[in-house]
Amino acid sequence: MKVIIAKSYEEMSRLAAEEIAKVVNEKPNAVIGLATGGTPVGMYKELIDMYKEKKVDFSQVTSVNLDEYVGLSGDHNQSYRYFMNSNFFDHVNIRKDHTFVPNGLAKDINAEGAEYDKKIEALGGIDVQLVGIGSNGHIGFNEPGEELDLGTHLTNLTESTIEANARFFASKDEVPTQAVTMGLGGIMKAKKILLIANGAEKAEAINKVINGKITTQIPASMVQMHRDVVVVIDEAAASKLENLK
Ligand code: PGA
Repeated sequence: MKVIIAKSYEEMSRLAAEEIAKVVNEKPNAVIGLATGGTPVGMYKELIDMYKEKKVDFSQVTSVNLDEYVGLSGDHNQSYRYFMNSNFFDHVNIRKDHTFVPNGLAKDINAEGAEYDKKIEALGGIDVQLVGIGSNGHIGFNEPGEELDLGTHLTNLTESTIEANARFFASKDEVPTQAVTMGLGGIMKAKKILLIANGAEKAEAINKVINGKITTQIPASMVQMHRDVVVVIDEAAASKLENLK
């Protein structure tokens, strides 16, 4: 695991964008696994700037996203499809028909999730998977619990995730209670994992991921078993690190 501590959110965003751009520059038809949330917004801005400066080209890239809320259509301004279009896809030259986000309106979420995983396999797998982390240690929407799922699946959101995400909605009642998320298997099969985090509220989870035991109670701790993980965090998120691996 390579851990990079950035001085600021801006630097974290730039360094993360450079990691993605490096993969795409080495493999122009790369499959990039993307994530939503507050954390990656700055990274997408950096990637858009790099695209405008002709430092990276997305014309042959395919993207697959980690997760989506159940019950929100892609037009809903809090859906993750909408987030991806407005924060990234609409501003670069990626082909929209090469961008995939799990379908939160599917009648049978688990069946469509299995199709999603098959599509990723058919694409040749994910070259780099971007992930954030919840302050409860979740990765994608794989929430802490007794068990973790391998494939893309339907999941119930925990109270702490609903509370954390309420800031994006008019009220907490509007936050969906379920989501479809790539499982730990899908994430771990990616050739490279790029984990980003900023802010003191992530510091404890980050320390557990880097220094703690592997446990389903901190789903992100599973990445310790991956061969190629780059963690880019700001100083606040690094503030509780007991050791650097
Ligand atoms: P955030 O979410 O970027 O909005 O903090 C990250 C996550 O929950 O994985």
